[in-house]
Amino acid sequence: MRVLVTGSTGKLGSALLKQLKGKNYQVKITSRKKPEGIDGFTWIYSDLLSGDGIEDAVQDVEVVIHAATSPIKNSKNIEITGFENFLSKLRHINHFIYPSIVGIEEIPYKYYKLKFEAEQLLMNSSIPHTITRATQFHSFVESLLISRPILKRYVIPGSLKFQSVDVDEYASHIIELIEKGPQGKVDDFCGPEIMTLKEMAELKIKINNETNGVLNISVPGKLFRSLVEGKNTNSKRKIGKVTFEEYLRNRLA
Ligand SMILES: NC(=O)c1ccc[n+]([C@@H]2O[C@H](COP(=O)([O-])OP(=O)(O)OC[C@H]3O[C@@H](n4cnc5c(N)ncnc54)[C@H](OP(=O)(O)O)[C@@H]3O)[C@@H](O)[C@H]2O)c1
Repeated sequence: MRVLVTGSTGKLGSALLKQLKGKNYQVKITSRKKPEGIDGFTWIYSDLLSGDGIEDAVQDVEVVIHAATSPIKNSKNIEITGFENFLSKLRHINHFIYPSIVGIEEIPYKYYKLKFEAEQLLMNSSIPHTITRATQFHSFVESLLISRPILKRYVIPGSLKFQSVDVDEYASHIIELIEKGPQGKVDDFCGPEIMTLKEMAELKIKINNETNGVLNISVPGKLFRSLVEGKNTNSKRKIGKVTFEEYLRNRLA
């Protein structure tokens, strides 16, 4: 089968490439920067903003895994306008796999609204597809834990909840979807436990033997309230096995 993976330099894209290596697929990959160590894959420069390289990238492919994204810079032009342009070149494909995020319709954050709109565009298109939503990756939550050296504290809205998931487990779920064919919207793929950001920071401090403490702040607004309420989690879908603690210990090793 001929597969295209967009966003090959990203967190999900890199995890997908690691697992697609040696599998019986002909794999094309795209991004703007060329990734390292991509023997066995055909890399094509492609920019969703300008449209450069897209025609080449999609030629002859049967399955597309769309892991390219831009949460902050030019987000509307990439997640919506660029996405629509991309979809318009995909009339010939058999299966478009769209990774998305749990709870996005209930979380008032611009990027999540765009992802939700993109899901609708895909569902209303004639392209055979699968939409697979995951919770935040462990690495994403870790990136929220920024220590303030002067205070020797992680200054965080500690009551936010996360159910973070291992990106490699999510990548292997996506690769299984290639063989399953188009499924429409599938069940959420979530991490094994729901924790507060404070609990996650405390785990990091313990595992890394840090002298940091946690300074818990409360942030007003609907976005933070929705995350305190855990709208980004799904307690019925604890599918991933690798916990945040294991992720941190593996990183240390
Ligand atoms: N991160 C999470 O916690 C999380 C959780 C659940 C679902 N997801 C979903 O998983 C998908 C992948 O997320 P990720 O975290 O792996 O993203 P990421 O690490 O930010 O990677 C984004 C990728 O998109 C490419 N890209 C950015 N701008 C581009 C442009 N203008 N044209 C073409 N490619 C462009 C980047 O490569 P270049 O810069 O080299 O072009 C990079 O390879 C997204 O759909 C996201 O919503 C993410």
